[in-house]
Amino acid sequence: MSARSRLIVVANRLPVHRVKRASGSGWETSPGGLVSALAPMLREREGAWVGWPGYAGEAPRPFEHERMSLIPVGLSRSDLDGFYLGFSNATLWPLYHDAVRYPEYHRRWWAPYVDVNNRFAKITARHVADGDLVWVQDYQLQLVPLMLRQRKPGVRIGFFLHIPFPPVELFAQLPWRQQLLEGLLGADVVGFQTKVGAQNFVRAARRFAGARGHEGLLEHRGRRIQVRHFPISIDYAAIDSAARRPEVAQAAAEIRKHTAGGRKLLLGVDRLDYTKGIDLRLRAFETLLERYENSNDVACFVQIAVPSREHSPEYADMRTRIEQLVGHINGTYSERGLTPVHYLYRNIPFDELLAYYLAADAMVVTPLRDGMNLVAKEYVATRFDNAGALVLSEFAGAAQELKQAIQVNPHDVDGIAAALDQALTMPQDEIERRMRSMRSRVRRHDVYAWASSFVEAMAS
Ligand code: G6P
Repeated sequence: MSARSRLIVVANRLPVHRVKRASGSGWETSPGGLVSALAPMLREREGAWVGWPGYAGEAPRPFEHERMSLIPVGLSRSDLDGFYLGFSNATLWPLYHDAVRYPEYHRRWWAPYVDVNNRFAKITARHVADGDLVWVQDYQLQLVPLMLRQRKPGVRIGFFLHIPFPPVELFAQLPWRQQLLEGLLGADVVGFQTKVGAQNFVRAARRFAGARGHEGLLEHRGRRIQVRHFPISIDYAAIDSAARRPEVAQAAAEIRKHTAGGRKLLLGVDRLDYTKGIDLRLRAFETLLERYENSNDVACFVQIAVPSREHSPEYADMRTRIEQLVGHINGTYSERGLTPVHYLYRNIPFDELLAYYLAADAMVVTPLRDGMNLVAKEYVATRFDNAGALVLSEFAGAAQELKQAIQVNPHDVDGIAAALDQALTMPQDEIERRMRSMRSRVRRHDVYAWASSFVEAMAS
């Protein structure tokens, strides 16, 4: 039956964004693994994607884009304040990331969260029929599974959380914990990035929503719910082959020549987010510069920070702090035309990003907490030369799979500094051995494997 069922994806964002052209505005497919994995599935199953078009105001009518049916959900300025910037990004986001920032609990944000989730469920319900598979994505839409089930009991519903599910001791703080759990338990399959995430959810569902059972299978209000981990991945083959093009090697050589200038190159690539640990990572690099004689001749750090959620004060503060730190390090250690930290605050075209990955002697991925971290996997897929070390936070979901990375506690500045040193001095044959084995893991577990295993679980 699964080959015939239609697949409807419900996510906060549509897989396209609006672009202004001389001829008027149009739509472009957004970059990213989720979109590239799901687009072919949607075409094959004549599905649709329900989501917000990315700007405040009335939604356009449903439309087709590159053979995908898109169903926009409109969000007003005030929906965005309460639902998106408020409850999603200032309550749930910090709470689910180990409360690395204090989560704010406001009743005035909960109401729009319920309201917008209801709107998504209502619009989705209009476009689905019995037997369809509906796959709801991420923390912005945790109430949708139950809201949709109440309207359409004949559809199969899956939910996947892209970010961590926190330990029950933290989750317990949430004044609306029971409603969120009931919302998720409306699905047939609830998926997480890691085994620990699935276990945390099971504990919370038993304690606060009266569910019974264990990881694997829960029972709630006479229904059975599969609860498992499905680690998300990237399009390995596409990245591997894109990275092998001579233009990428040439761009990487330029970066090494002009930016690194004979020094080793350490690289960080992140959305500018306080969960990513960019500040502590830069302090660790500063520690390295302090500690080692002539270390400015040895290594430089390139930090690419992709602008994100710029309307949120927390994100604006973080940006200021990071930029001050970069200024401080460069002010202290620049000499003879050598700048220790190269900081880029912008979106980087994917080809250019591949060139940076390929130019790096070590990639430094040190989030304080991260659902998966696809940058680490993209880096691995790029390194067809098997060169390049990876320093990886033990608190990223990816650490469960990339065991051969140099793993670090991202809160331990001296520990990160030692890991950077280890990456810079590791014998080439050991770097290669580790990279080969990480590549083989990511090759076998790519984003297509991820998406099909989830859809199979939903259909079974
Ligand atoms: C994380 C979340 C996604 C989100 C993305 C970008 O990866 O898991 O759901 O779309 O960040 O954040 P934004 O708030 O711009 O959608």
